[in-house]
Amino acid sequence: MKKDFLSILDITKAELGEILSDAERLKRQKRAGVPHELLRGMSLAMIFEKSSTRTHISFEVGMHELGGHALFLNAKDLQIGRGEEIRDTARVASRYVSAVMIRANRHSTIEELAQHATIPVINGLSDLEHPCQLLADILTIREHFGDVRDLNVAWVGDGNNVCTSLVLSTALTGMSVTVSSPKGYEVDQDIISRARTLGGKVKTASSPAEAVKDAHVIVTDTWISMGDEKEREKRLAAFRGFTVDDKLVRHAAPDARVLHCLPAHRGEEIAGDVLDGPQSLVWDEAENRLHAQKALLVKILKK
Ligand code: CP
Ligand code: NVA
Repeated sequence: MKKDFLSILDITKAELGEILSDAERLKRQKRAGVPHELLRGMSLAMIFEKSSTRTHISFEVGMHELGGHALFLNAKDLQIGRGEEIRDTARVASRYVSAVMIRANRHSTIEELAQHATIPVINGLSDLEHPCQLLADILTIREHFGDVRDLNVAWVGDGNNVCTSLVLSTALTGMSVTVSSPKGYEVDQDIISRARTLGGKVKTASSPAEAVKDAHVIVTDTWISMGDEKEREKRLAAFRGFTVDDKLVRHAAPDARVLHCLPAHRGEEIAGDVLDGPQSLVWDEAENRLHAQKALLVKILKK
């Protein structure tokens, strides 16, 4: 059966462990100049309804480094941009390529694509989740701290797609996540309940300072995700006090580290001196998109 990756919970704990180990090996091998032909002759269609730097580059380079090929497809230039149905695109793409990675405005678009495709579909970000980001984030945390189990992670900011995947990932990792968001911008309670039902450790905090207390890792993201631009002024006002700055980081564990999926907005969700400072792991995190996704692609595609 084909294996889709629409949610971070589409993989098991064991599969996550394998992906992380494979990613670490692929990273070492890249550094050592070991070439790969694991996905020779395979193609990945990358459909983008929204902008991207990291997802686009890392998937394209990742396929190349595995001996395969990636096609960048702006949704506006495909016939779906003129109203061709997703299910027809799914059927046709299934005849040409080995897998599709799609970044979509609506999660339902990705679900529909996956339902009608006979090849694996990967969520490259939707309004609901960003599971590829979580693979890289967990890899980065493991690389820095060794074991991820029993680490305290604080999410400070919007209860958005990245936050949703982080909360759900607690069911796989054993990390404890405490979320702090302004009123009206919290992660869906159903997501928290689902993570808890599956054994995830998730708490909510009434302030950023409370959330980061004893945190080993602080994670944040933009206050204005793609698609939220019209609410810019309202959001800037609502998120006042939620900047991850030096003062907030001092409330966390002494050697705490900071993650941000990028793109970042210095002076909004994160202070420039934190993003560019010694406690930031964001550049490793961005690099790890490549290694984690290569491991994911091999897992999904290798016969
Ligand atoms: N973090 C992330 O997905 O970045 P891009 O939007 O640049 O792909
Ligand atoms: N939450 C952000 C993540 C960007 C990678 C967005 O959806 O725009």
